[in-house]
Amino acid sequence: MTTEQTLREAATNRDFRIGAALAARALRSDPSYWKTAKNEFNAVTPENALKMGPLRPSPHAYDFTDADAIVDFGRKNDMYVRGHTLVWHNQKPEWFQAWDYTDDQLRKFLRDHVHTVVGRYRSSIDAWDVVNEAVADDGTLRETVWYDALGEEYLDLAFQWAREVDPEVDLYYNDYGADAVNEKSDAIYDLLERLLERGVPIDGVGLQFHALAGRPDPESVAENIRRFQDLGLDVQITEMDVANAVDDRPENPLAEQADYYREIVEVCLETGCDTLVTWGVHDASSWLRSFKDFSERYTGDPLLFDDACDPKPAYDAVTDALSGPDRS
Ligand code: G3I
Repeated sequence: MTTEQTLREAATNRDFRIGAALAARALRSDPSYWKTAKNEFNAVTPENALKMGPLRPSPHAYDFTDADAIVDFGRKNDMYVRGHTLVWHNQKPEWFQAWDYTDDQLRKFLRDHVHTVVGRYRSSIDAWDVVNEAVADDGTLRETVWYDALGEEYLDLAFQWAREVDPEVDLYYNDYGADAVNEKSDAIYDLLERLLERGVPIDGVGLQFHALAGRPDPESVAENIRRFQDLGLDVQITEMDVANAVDDRPENPLAEQADYYREIVEVCLETGCDTLVTWGVHDASSWLRSFKDFSERYTGDPLLFDDACDPKPAYDAVTDALSGPDRS
Protein backbone atom coordinates (compact mmCIF):
# COMPACT_ATOMS: atom_id res chain seq x y z
CA MET A 1 0.00 0.00 0.00
CA THR A 2 1.41 3.41 -0.93
CA THR A 3 0.50 6.16 1.48
CA GLU A 4 -0.23 9.73 0.53
CA GLN A 5 2.17 11.24 3.02
CA THR A 6 5.84 11.64 2.30
CA LEU A 7 8.21 9.72 4.53
CA ARG A 8 9.20 12.96 6.24
CA GLU A 9 5.59 13.92 6.91
CA ALA A 10 4.76 10.47 8.28
CA ALA A 11 7.79 10.58 10.58
CA THR A 12 7.21 14.13 11.76
CA ASN A 13 3.53 13.45 12.48
CA ARG A 14 4.67 10.55 14.64
CA ASP A 15 7.39 12.56 16.49
CA PHE A 16 9.86 10.23 14.84
CA ARG A 17 13.18 11.11 13.22
CA ILE A 18 13.98 9.42 9.94
CA GLY A 19 17.46 10.33 8.76
CA ALA A 20 20.04 9.92 6.04
CA ALA A 21 23.82 10.18 6.01
CA LEU A 22 24.92 12.84 3.54
CA ALA A 23 28.00 13.42 1.41
CA ALA A 24 28.86 17.04 0.62
CA ARG A 25 29.95 16.30 -2.93
CA ALA A 26 26.60 14.72 -3.86
CA LEU A 27 24.74 17.49 -2.09
CA ARG A 28 26.50 20.09 -4.25
CA SER A 29 26.33 18.26 -7.55
CA ASP A 30 23.07 16.34 -7.65
CA PRO A 31 19.76 18.20 -7.33
CA SER A 32 17.68 15.04 -7.04
CA TYR A 33 19.91 13.95 -4.15
CA TRP A 34 19.47 17.10 -2.08
CA LYS A 35 15.79 17.42 -2.92
CA THR A 36 15.19 13.86 -1.77
CA ALA A 37 17.18 14.52 1.40
CA LYS A 38 15.23 17.68 2.15
CA ASN A 39 11.75 16.45 1.26
CA GLU A 40 11.90 12.94 2.64
CA PHE A 41 14.03 13.08 5.79
CA ASN A 42 13.86 15.12 8.98
CA ALA A 43 17.30 14.12 10.26
CA VAL A 44 20.80 14.13 8.76
CA THR A 45 24.34 13.23 9.61
CA PRO A 46 27.54 13.78 7.62
CA GLU A 47 28.69 10.36 6.40
CA ASN A 48 32.38 11.29 6.48
CA ALA A 49 32.85 15.07 6.75
CA LEU A 50 33.03 15.28 10.55
CA LYS A 51 35.57 12.51 10.98
CA MET A 52 39.06 13.48 12.06
CA GLY A 53 40.73 12.63 8.74
CA PRO A 54 38.49 14.70 6.46
CA LEU A 55 38.40 17.56 8.99
CA ARG A 56 42.15 17.86 9.48
CA PRO A 57 44.14 18.04 6.23
CA SER A 58 47.31 19.12 8.07
CA PRO A 59 48.55 19.18 11.67
CA HIS A 60 47.68 22.81 12.29
CA ALA A 61 44.60 23.33 10.15
CA TYR A 62 40.99 22.27 10.11
CA ASP A 63 38.86 22.28 6.98
CA PHE A 64 35.21 22.60 7.98
CA THR A 65 33.90 23.30 4.46
CA ASP A 66 32.10 20.00 3.86
CA ALA A 67 30.95 19.55 7.44
CA ASP A 68 29.58 23.10 7.53
CA ALA A 69 27.72 22.52 4.25
CA ILE A 70 25.93 19.45 5.61
CA VAL A 71 25.22 20.86 9.07
CA ASP A 72 23.90 24.10 7.50
CA PHE A 73 21.74 22.07 5.10
CA GLY A 74 20.24 20.26 8.06
CA ARG A 75 19.60 23.41 10.06
CA LYS A 76 18.14 25.35 7.14
CA ASN A 77 15.73 22.52 6.45
CA ASP A 78 14.69 22.15 10.07
CA MET A 79 16.28 18.74 10.50
CA TYR A 80 17.74 16.98 13.51
CA VAL A 81 21.52 16.85 13.07
CA ARG A 82 23.71 14.01 14.33
CA GLY A 83 27.46 14.52 14.49
CA HIS A 84 29.56 11.51 13.45
CA THR A 85 32.15 11.03 14.95
CA LEU A 86 34.74 12.45 17.35
CA VAL A 87 36.87 9.51 18.44
CA TRP A 88 37.40 6.52 16.16
CA HIS A 89 40.25 4.24 15.17
CA ASN A 90 39.50 4.71 11.43
CA GLN A 91 39.75 7.72 9.12
CA LYS A 92 42.43 9.46 11.08
CA PRO A 93 44.51 12.01 9.10
CA GLU A 94 47.21 10.59 6.83
CA TRP A 95 49.82 12.77 8.56
CA PHE A 96 48.91 11.54 12.01
CA GLN A 97 51.53 9.15 13.35
CA ALA A 98 50.99 7.99 16.90
CA TRP A 99 54.70 7.43 17.40
CA ASP A 100 55.31 11.15 17.12
CA TYR A 101 53.45 11.71 20.40
CA THR A 102 53.91 10.81 24.04
CA ASP A 103 50.81 9.50 25.83
CA ASP A 104 50.33 12.91 27.43
CA GLN A 105 50.60 14.62 24.05
CA LEU A 106 48.01 12.25 22.62
CA ARG A 107 45.68 13.08 25.46
CA LYS A 108 46.12 16.80 24.75
CA PHE A 109 45.72 16.21 21.00
CA LEU A 110 42.42 14.41 21.49
CA ARG A 111 41.14 16.95 24.01
CA ASP A 112 41.90 19.81 21.62
CA HIS A 113 40.15 17.95 18.81
CA VAL A 114 37.00 17.31 20.83
CA HIS A 115 36.95 20.87 22.20
CA THR A 116 37.45 22.45 18.77
CA VAL A 117 34.91 20.38 16.86
CA VAL A 118 32.16 20.23 19.49
CA GLY A 119 32.70 23.93 20.22
CA ARG A 120 32.27 24.91 16.58
CA TYR A 121 28.93 23.13 16.29
CA ARG A 122 27.58 24.04 19.72
CA SER A 123 23.83 24.58 19.29
CA SER A 124 23.84 23.41 15.66
CA ILE A 125 24.44 19.70 16.26
CA ASP A 126 21.83 17.88 18.35
CA ALA A 127 23.68 14.66 19.14
CA TRP A 128 27.28 13.50 18.83
CA ASP A 129 28.67 10.03 18.32
CA VAL A 130 31.46 10.80 20.78
CA VAL A 131 33.15 7.42 20.58
CA ASN A 132 32.65 5.04 17.68
CA GLU A 133 33.36 1.31 17.67
CA ALA A 134 35.49 1.02 20.82
CA VAL A 135 34.53 -2.62 21.30
CA ALA A 136 36.05 -5.38 19.17
CA ASP A 137 33.98 -8.19 17.69
CA ASP A 138 34.96 -10.55 20.53
CA GLY A 139 33.72 -8.08 23.13
CA THR A 140 37.11 -6.88 24.36
CA LEU A 141 38.06 -3.22 24.15
CA ARG A 142 39.52 -2.59 20.72
CA GLU A 143 43.29 -1.99 20.69
CA THR A 144 43.28 1.47 19.19
CA VAL A 145 45.79 4.26 19.35
CA TRP A 146 43.58 5.98 21.96
CA TYR A 147 43.23 2.86 24.09
CA ASP A 148 46.93 2.17 23.85
CA ALA A 149 47.83 5.61 25.17
CA LEU A 150 45.07 6.22 27.71
CA GLY A 151 43.42 2.89 28.53
CA GLU A 152 39.66 2.61 29.01
CA GLU A 153 39.70 6.12 30.46
CA TYR A 154 39.86 7.57 26.95
CA LEU A 155 36.12 7.03 26.73
CA ASP A 156 35.49 8.86 30.02
CA LEU A 157 37.67 11.74 28.89
CA ALA A 158 36.12 12.06 25.44
CA PHE A 159 32.60 12.30 26.87
CA GLN A 160 33.73 14.71 29.58
CA TRP A 161 35.54 16.96 27.08
CA ALA A 162 32.49 17.05 24.84
CA ARG A 163 30.24 17.93 27.78
CA GLU A 164 32.64 20.70 28.89
CA VAL A 165 32.08 22.65 25.69
CA ASP A 166 28.43 21.83 25.06
CA PRO A 167 26.22 21.28 28.09
CA GLU A 168 23.12 20.69 25.93
CA VAL A 169 24.12 18.30 23.16
CA ASP A 170 23.28 14.59 23.55
CA LEU A 171 26.35 12.38 23.77
CA TYR A 172 26.28 8.89 22.24
CA TYR A 173 28.37 5.76 22.13
CA ASN A 174 27.97 4.19 18.65
CA ASP A 175 28.82 0.69 17.39
CA TYR A 176 28.04 -1.99 14.81
CA GLY A 177 27.08 -5.64 15.25
CA ALA A 178 25.38 -4.88 18.56
CA ASP A 179 21.83 -4.42 17.31
CA ALA A 180 20.39 -7.51 18.99
CA VAL A 181 21.33 -9.22 22.25
CA ASN A 182 24.65 -10.91 21.54
CA GLU A 183 28.20 -11.20 22.86
CA LYS A 184 29.17 -7.78 21.54
CA SER A 185 26.10 -5.93 22.79
CA ASP A 186 26.60 -7.63 26.18
CA ALA A 187 30.12 -6.20 26.26
CA ILE A 188 28.89 -2.75 25.26
CA TYR A 189 26.20 -2.95 27.92
CA ASP A 190 28.87 -3.73 30.55
CA LEU A 191 31.11 -0.95 29.26
CA LEU A 192 28.37 1.67 29.34
CA GLU A 193 27.26 0.51 32.78
CA ARG A 194 30.82 1.09 34.02
CA LEU A 195 30.92 4.54 32.41
CA LEU A 196 27.61 5.49 34.01
CA GLU A 197 28.78 4.22 37.41
CA ARG A 198 31.82 6.48 37.07
CA GLY A 199 29.54 9.45 36.37
CA VAL A 200 30.58 9.83 32.73
CA PRO A 201 28.13 12.10 30.87
CA ILE A 202 26.69 9.70 28.32
CA ASP A 203 23.13 10.09 27.08
CA GLY A 204 22.64 7.33 24.59
CA VAL A 205 23.76 4.40 22.53
CA GLY A 206 23.69 4.25 18.74
CA LEU A 207 23.02 0.89 17.12
CA GLN A 208 24.47 1.19 13.61
CA PHE A 209 22.33 -1.58 12.12
CA HIS A 210 24.21 -2.56 8.98
CA ALA A 211 22.07 -5.60 8.07
CA LEU A 212 24.30 -6.66 5.19
CA ALA A 213 23.55 -10.38 5.05
CA GLY A 214 22.19 -11.37 8.46
CA ARG A 215 18.95 -9.98 9.83
CA PRO A 216 19.09 -9.39 13.59
CA ASP A 217 15.96 -10.92 15.12
CA PRO A 218 13.47 -8.08 15.75
CA GLU A 219 12.42 -9.47 19.14
CA SER A 220 16.02 -9.58 20.25
CA VAL A 221 16.56 -6.05 18.92
CA ALA A 222 13.61 -4.88 21.05
CA GLU A 223 15.02 -6.64 24.11
CA ASN A 224 18.41 -5.05 23.47
CA ILE A 225 16.94 -1.56 23.10
CA ARG A 226 14.96 -1.98 26.30
CA ARG A 227 17.93 -3.07 28.38
CA PHE A 228 19.92 0.00 27.33
CA GLN A 229 16.89 2.18 28.07
CA ASP A 230 16.69 0.54 31.50
CA LEU A 231 20.23 1.78 32.12
CA GLY A 232 18.85 5.29 31.57
CA LEU A 233 20.17 5.65 28.01
CA ASP A 234 18.38 6.76 24.88
CA VAL A 235 18.75 4.41 21.92
CA GLN A 236 18.90 5.43 18.27
CA ILE A 237 19.44 3.43 15.09
CA THR A 238 22.21 5.38 13.47
CA GLU A 239 23.45 3.82 10.20
CA MET A 240 20.82 1.41 8.92
CA ASP A 241 21.07 -0.37 5.62
CA VAL A 242 19.68 -3.72 4.47
CA ALA A 243 21.63 -5.59 1.78
CA ASN A 244 22.31 -9.20 0.83
CA ALA A 245 25.34 -11.37 0.25
CA VAL A 246 25.88 -11.36 -3.53
CA ASP A 247 25.83 -15.17 -3.61
CA ASP A 248 22.78 -15.56 -1.39
CA ARG A 249 19.95 -13.30 -2.52
CA PRO A 250 16.36 -13.97 -1.51
CA GLU A 251 13.85 -14.69 -4.26
CA ASN A 252 12.27 -11.25 -4.02
CA PRO A 253 14.95 -9.03 -2.48
CA LEU A 254 13.03 -5.76 -2.62
CA ALA A 255 10.01 -7.24 -0.84
CA GLU A 256 12.19 -8.96 1.75
CA GLN A 257 14.08 -5.71 2.34
CA ALA A 258 10.84 -3.78 2.72
CA ASP A 259 9.48 -6.29 5.23
CA TYR A 260 12.62 -6.09 7.31
CA TYR A 261 12.72 -2.29 7.35
CA ARG A 262 9.06 -2.35 8.40
CA GLU A 263 9.74 -4.78 11.24
CA ILE A 264 12.55 -2.66 12.61
CA VAL A 265 10.54 0.57 12.40
CA GLU A 266 7.79 -1.23 14.31
CA VAL A 267 10.32 -2.25 16.95
CA CYS A 268 11.36 1.41 17.21
CA LEU A 269 7.77 2.52 17.66
CA GLU A 270 7.09 -0.16 20.28
CA THR A 271 10.20 0.56 22.32
CA GLY A 272 10.31 4.33 22.04
CA CYS A 273 13.52 4.42 19.99
CA ASP A 274 12.59 7.63 18.18
CA THR A 275 15.37 7.99 15.60
CA LEU A 276 16.38 5.81 12.65
CA VAL A 277 19.09 7.08 10.31
CA THR A 278 19.77 5.26 7.03
CA TRP A 279 23.37 5.20 5.83
CA GLY A 280 22.84 7.21 2.69
CA VAL A 281 20.06 8.78 0.63
CA HIS A 282 19.85 6.43 -2.35
CA ASP A 283 21.43 3.18 -3.45
CA ALA A 284 23.83 4.91 -5.83
CA SER A 285 25.42 6.77 -2.91
CA SER A 286 25.68 3.77 -0.59
CA TRP A 287 29.11 3.02 0.85
CA LEU A 288 28.47 -0.57 -0.28
CA ARG A 289 28.98 0.52 -3.89
CA SER A 290 32.47 1.86 -3.34
CA PHE A 291 33.94 0.48 -0.16
CA LYS A 292 36.58 -2.11 -1.00
CA ASP A 293 35.86 -5.72 0.06
CA PHE A 294 32.26 -4.92 0.97
CA SER A 295 31.30 -3.97 -2.59
CA GLU A 296 32.38 -7.42 -3.78
CA ARG A 297 30.52 -9.28 -1.04
CA TYR A 298 27.23 -7.41 -0.66
CA THR A 299 24.56 -6.07 -2.97
CA GLY A 300 24.72 -2.33 -3.41
CA ASP A 301 20.99 -1.71 -2.97
CA PRO A 302 20.50 -1.26 0.78
CA LEU A 303 18.54 2.00 1.04
CA LEU A 304 15.00 3.39 0.69
CA PHE A 305 15.57 5.08 -2.70
CA ASP A 306 16.92 3.55 -5.90
CA ASP A 307 19.67 4.93 -8.14
CA ALA A 308 17.29 7.47 -9.67
CA CYS A 309 16.09 8.60 -6.22
CA ASP A 310 12.76 6.89 -6.82
CA PRO A 311 11.16 5.33 -3.75
CA LYS A 312 11.52 1.57 -3.34
CA PRO A 313 9.13 -0.88 -1.66
CA ALA A 314 11.17 -0.30 1.52
CA TYR A 315 10.21 3.38 1.35
CA ASP A 316 6.51 2.47 1.25
CA ALA A 317 6.96 -0.01 4.08
CA VAL A 318 8.66 2.52 6.37
CA THR A 319 6.15 5.24 5.51
CA ASP A 320 3.24 2.86 6.10
CA ALA A 321 4.67 1.70 9.43
CA LEU A 322 5.06 5.31 10.56
CA SER A 323 1.55 6.15 9.37
CA GLY A 324 -0.02 3.20 11.20
CA PRO A 325 -1.91 3.27 14.48
CA ASP A 326 0.02 4.41 17.54
CA ARG A 327 0.45 1.25 19.64
CA SER A 328 3.03 2.59 22.09
O1 G3I B 1 37.02 11.55 -0.43
C1 G3I B 1 38.22 10.77 -0.63
C2 G3I B 1 38.86 11.14 -1.90
O2 G3I B 1 39.28 12.47 -1.82
C3 G3I B 1 40.02 10.19 -2.15
O3 G3I B 1 40.63 10.48 -3.36
C4 G3I B 1 39.54 8.75 -2.16
C5 G3I B 1 40.68 7.76 -2.39
O4 G3I B 1 40.49 6.58 -1.65
O5 G3I B 1 38.97 8.48 -0.94
C6 G3I B 1 37.87 9.31 -0.62
O6 G3I B 1 37.53 9.04 0.69
C7 G3I B 1 36.82 7.85 0.93
C8 G3I B 1 35.55 8.24 1.68
O7 G3I B 1 34.86 7.10 2.09
C9 G3I B 1 34.61 9.11 0.86
O8 G3I B 1 34.15 8.39 -0.25
C10 G3I B 1 37.66 6.93 1.78
O9 G3I B 1 38.73 6.43 1.02
C11 G3I B 1 36.84 5.77 2.28
O10 G3I B 1 37.60 5.03 3.22
C12 G3I B 1 35.62 6.30 2.98
O11 G3I B 1 34.82 5.22 3.41
C13 G3I B 1 33.93 5.50 4.46
C14 G3I B 1 34.15 4.53 5.61
O12 G3I B 1 33.22 4.80 6.64
C15 G3I B 1 35.57 4.65 6.18
O13 G3I B 1 35.78 3.68 7.16
C16 G3I B 1 32.50 5.35 3.96
O14 G3I B 1 32.23 6.35 2.97
C17 G3I B 1 31.53 5.50 5.12
O15 G3I B 1 30.22 5.18 4.69
C18 G3I B 1 31.90 4.54 6.24
O16 G3I B 1 31.03 4.76 7.31
C19 G3I B 1 31.19 3.90 8.43
C20 G3I B 1 30.83 4.71 9.66
O17 G3I B 1 31.58 5.89 9.72
C21 G3I B 1 31.02 3.87 10.92
N1 G3I B 1 30.28 2.63 10.84
C22 G3I B 1 30.52 1.83 9.66
C23 G3I B 1 30.27 2.67 8.40
C24 G3I B 1 30.41 1.83 7.14
O18 G3I B 1 31.73 1.36 7.01
